[in-house]
Amino acid sequence: MNLPALETLLGGRSAREFLAEYWQKKPLLIRQAVPGFTGVLSRTDLFELACNPDVESRYIRLPADGVDGDWTLEHGPQPRSRRRGKRQPWTVLVQGVNLWVPDGDRLLHRFDFIPQARLDDLMVSYAIDGGGVGPHFDNYDVFLLQGMGRRRWQISDQADRSLVEGAPLRILKHFTPTEDWVLEPGDMLYLPPHWAHNGIAIGECTTYSIGFRSPTAQELGTEFLAWMQDRLQLEGLYADPDLELQQNSAEIGPKMVDQIERMLAGIRWTRRDVEAFVGAYLTEPKPHVFFEPPEAPMDRRRFEREVGAHGFALDPRSLLLFSAAGFHLNGEPVDADETLRPALAELADRRCLPASAVARFGPALLELLHDWYCSGFGAPQ
Ligand code: SIN
Ligand code: CO
Repeated sequence: MNLPALETLLGGRSAREFLAEYWQKKPLLIRQAVPGFTGVLSRTDLFELACNPDVESRYIRLPADGVDGDWTLEHGPQPRSRRRGKRQPWTVLVQGVNLWVPDGDRLLHRFDFIPQARLDDLMVSYAIDGGGVGPHFDNYDVFLLQGMGRRRWQISDQADRSLVEGAPLRILKHFTPTEDWVLEPGDMLYLPPHWAHNGIAIGECTTYSIGFRSPTAQELGTEFLAWMQDRLQLEGLYADPDLELQQNSAEIGPKMVDQIERMLAGIRWTRRDVEAFVGAYLTEPKPHVFFEPPEAPMDRRRFEREVGAHGFALDPRSLLLFSAAGFHLNGEPVDADETLRPALAELADRRCLPASAVARFGPALLELLHDWYCSGFGAPQ
């Protein structure tokens, strides 16, 4: 698959211009963002993934009687008979295609002009004529890249976000589109969060959604407190040598609350804690992601020869990010010497390290990469 230069992907704009004018601000339709694009996998392979119990997928069938009717939503694994239904328009959506298809991973990472920490996954939908997920809005940014066939996209910046009650998916009750386009293979539509949209397949088609993650404050708070809990070390023990006789034995007296309040005031965190938490949180693999260590791993010497000849690549499932708190890989801090920082930063940015770069850093880097290889986090290229 040939991926275009960033300027082509962004319709003749630089990434800086796109960020300043459109990102999280307004939609952008880019004709021929990926010239010649028809997808990264065949319909058969997409259905194969949808039938796999380790892959998140959804089947959605439109109601016969308009948006208020009976929507059907079935989570995967999809039955093999799925693709035969023809009575009502339907679609199958497969999440995390980047984890299974190398070209899908490359496509997702073409969008890493947005920090990788914001990238979520590549979702691929297949729909028969008239199929779609209905008018809705998402809480995150999305690039909708047309694969095979054509799709009509209608969008709206409407304030009315009321949803059809009782539907198994979030369908807008009143959708009033203000723009209407037909996307051909390779065309792409960028939508900021909360823009209402509806994509209707014209004939059978596939759409590639490059999605971003936008954690809620509640989610961050809950995860941060769970992270802190494992690291919390408070000194002291409740004590009351000056205890005075209370009138009501069942009363929790103000002095008791004062003392507990002082004890709890010992719960504090620093910016370094936040950095370490963010590194762990943002590289934590999703619940259905598992790493497969190699069945018969190469020993250090053979690994060294392979990596020395071809370089090293991260597994598409691996998440490697860094901050002032150092590197985090798949939810864990990386214990590496400061001298390896440039090599690891290059590996994190590019998701692979050429043989020449590995050679510059010597045995400490090779040992680390060999450990990662034995855990299934990456392999010689
Ligand atoms: C689709 O591919 O049908 C749905 C994508 C979206 O609306 O976010
Ligand atoms: Co959407």
